[in-house]
Amino acid sequence: LKVLFVSAEVVPFAKAGGLADVAGSLPRALASLGVDVRVAMPRHGQIPRGAYVTDYMVEVDARKETAVIREGRIEALPGGKPVPVYFIDNYQYFGRENIYGYSDDGERWGFFSRALLEMLEPIDFIPDILHFNDWQCGPAIALLKEEYRHHPAYRRIASVLTVHNLEYQGHFGRDILRFIGLRQDLFRPDALEFYGQVNYMKAGLVFADLINTVSRTYAEEIQTGEYGWGLEGLLRLRHSDLFGIVNGIDVEVYDPATDPHIPHHYSADNMDGKKRNKAELQRQFGLPVSDAPLLGLVHRLVDQKGIDLFEGIEEALFQEELQLVVVGQGDPRYEGLFRRLKQHFPEKVGLFIGFDSPLAQRVYAGSDFFLMPSRFEPCGLGQLIAFRYGAIPIVRSTGGLADTVTDARFPNGNGVVFETYQPDHFLEAIRRGLDLYRQKERWQQLVSRVMRLDHSWRRSADEYMQLYGRARRKVNPEL
Ligand code: GLC
Repeated sequence: LKVLFVSAEVVPFAKAGGLADVAGSLPRALASLGVDVRVAMPRHGQIPRGAYVTDYMVEVDARKETAVIREGRIEALPGGKPVPVYFIDNYQYFGRENIYGYSDDGERWGFFSRALLEMLEPIDFIPDILHFNDWQCGPAIALLKEEYRHHPAYRRIASVLTVHNLEYQGHFGRDILRFIGLRQDLFRPDALEFYGQVNYMKAGLVFADLINTVSRTYAEEIQTGEYGWGLEGLLRLRHSDLFGIVNGIDVEVYDPATDPHIPHHYSADNMDGKKRNKAELQRQFGLPVSDAPLLGLVHRLVDQKGIDLFEGIEEALFQEELQLVVVGQGDPRYEGLFRRLKQHFPEKVGLFIGFDSPLAQRVYAGSDFFLMPSRFEPCGLGQLIAFRYGAIPIVRSTGGLADTVTDARFPNGNGVVFETYQPDHFLEAIRRGLDLYRQKERWQQLVSRVMRLDHSWRRSADEYMQLYGRARRKVNPEL
């Protein structure tokens, strides 16, 4: 089976969010199942050149642009094979500091889409599956179906689109169709048009052979007005082609027994190291070294993550004996909120505004709880990493959080869960957590149970294999 996995961001080359983690680890898991899987992404400014493979011309905006293909690799899993990575290099569109957020994003991903499809023959890799991720791939999915399908080499390729977050869709003016070279008559409500604009995510959702999201609950939720961002009708229409596969994590990277970024190693059988990590974390953030329960929060500080639930409960929250350590950046409103909290409760709040994965790993290792009160959460990786490091997640029941975290009052519970998106419900959940923490024996059992949970990619990779099989049969009924 040949799979080309396409993503705007891939660990270790470029990362803005959880998509990069998935793109850096799922292909490795597929490779160890024997799949000939390769990855394609732009060569962003921060990525070293890599070895030259080939170059060719791509037609956009009725002119020719060069695409240079360079090759790198993602290192193998123990016993597996390394994954080749093709970087599509065009300085004008991608030689920049950031991955997204430019006024010509429509053109950038339009160019990328064409360059990607034009790449298959020169690199001599015609995959069975083109596995696309998120809105940046939308034009490629539409092009494949509407234009390249007539080309014999492309006819048998099946496309799968994984939606990591429906909030981000990529809306651009109608002119972008001409730029990409897509027919104007695709500008209609049952194709690419969306409230007077072209919607890249919608292009993908309309034209992909199969669609999945990163949890089952999220796959259901996005078919409703509350979570569908205007695309719920289309998703309901496609519900028989829509699946949910929960993400795994890279259990080699996130392993408190070997993690090079944490000062003291530990495991479910020997937890001394965790205590010492906690003390180091308290020192590093200028907090008193104590036994007080420590709550960690590591996120992009955006609406999605439920940060506004802190507003209004601060006084009550910090009357409790606890400490809060926050690492993240994003919306100035939320950065400001945590700055204020730190000012008012300097003995209780530690704050680092920024993104730093080694530091994030020290927070997981030193925390007793991990907070994820998300408004919505397609999958969420933080809670899975938290399990691994023995930090008990406190989450709102939505998307992947609902699928992976069960409240400790139930048998095999592994966290604290609240339903209603309201500050007092969040507060009540934290208080229930603190209560658990005080019951020493029960607490230790809980922590050692969550550390043994298996959230490696193994099971999810098997589910992707099934999805690929189904997509291939859809496009090639004779299989
Ligand atoms: C996005 C989602 C997150 C998910 C990740 C990887 O970042 O917000 O819930 O875990 O993608 O799929």
